[in-house]
Amino acid sequence: MTFTLSQVVPWGRSFDEYVAMFDLTDAELAGRIVGCGDGPASFNAVLTRRGGRVVSVDPLYRFSQDQIRERIRRTCDDILEQTRKNAHEFVWTRIKSVEELGQLRMAAMEEFLSDYPAGVAEKRYVDGELPHLPFPDGTFDLAVCSHLLFLYSEQLSEDFHVESIKELCRVAGEARIFPLLELGAIKSRHVDAVSARLTDEGYDVSIRTVPYEFQRGGNQMMNVRTGDA
Ligand SMILES: C[S@@+](CC[C@H](N)C(=O)[O-])C[C@H]1O[C@@H](n2cnc3c(N)ncnc32)[C@H](O)[C@@H]1O
Repeated sequence: MTFTLSQVVPWGRSFDEYVAMFDLTDAELAGRIVGCGDGPASFNAVLTRRGGRVVSVDPLYRFSQDQIRERIRRTCDDILEQTRKNAHEFVWTRIKSVEELGQLRMAAMEEFLSDYPAGVAEKRYVDGELPHLPFPDGTFDLAVCSHLLFLYSEQLSEDFHVESIKELCRVAGEARIFPLLELGAIKSRHVDAVSARLTDEGYDVSIRTVPYEFQRGGNQMMNVRTGDA
C-alpha cells in the first residue's frame, strides 16, 4: 500500500516524554539510538543538540518540511477535539489540560520542523518503514518505538508486530516499545501472543513499568533483547 500523508496523524511527543516512556538512562542516551516511527517528535532534534547519536526512521520523511507543517496545521485541531471528547481515557496530572497538551505537542513539533532540513541532510531523518529497515545488522545499541506498534493493533496484524520487533532487534539488539495499549486505552490484543512468540524464538522479553502515564493505564513498555536468537 502506498503511504500517503493523509493517513498520518502527525502528533509528536517531546524529548522529556521519550526519556520517561522508555525509562532512558544517561548511559543509554549516550549510545547509538534508532527511533522508529518518530514522526514529528522532538526526540531526535533535542538529543542531537545535546550531543547524542540518533537516527529516526519513518515514512513521513519522504515529505518536505512544508508538506509536513501543512499536515500538522490541518489535523491539530481535530486531534485536540478528539482528546477533549475522550478526556476520560487520559491521566491529567503531568499534562493538566487539553490546552496545555496542544502547547506541548506544538512546541515539540516546531522543534522537529526546525531541525528537519538539517536532519535530512545529515541522514538523521530517514525515509523507511517497518517491517524492513534500511540499516545493516547491529547499527544501533537501542531501538525505541513510541505510539506505533501495539497502539495501532487493529490496523497492524500480530505477524506484523512479530516481524517488526525482530527487525528492530536485528538493527539494534534491544528494542523498547511503548505503550502496550491500543486506541481506546485498552490493552493491546497482540501483547501476549507477540511476547510468547518472541520468547519461543529465543528473544528475552520483559514488560517494564515506566515513569510515564498519559493514556490511562499506559505506563508499561515491552523490552525485547536478541538473547540467544
Ligand atoms: C502517532 S505517530 C507517533 C510519533 C512519535 N513516535 C511520538 O510518539 O510522538 C506514529 C508514526 O508512525 C509512523 N509510521 C506509520 N507506519 C509506519 C511503519 N510501517 N514504520 C515506521 N513508522 C511508521 C507514522 O508516519 C507516524 O509518524
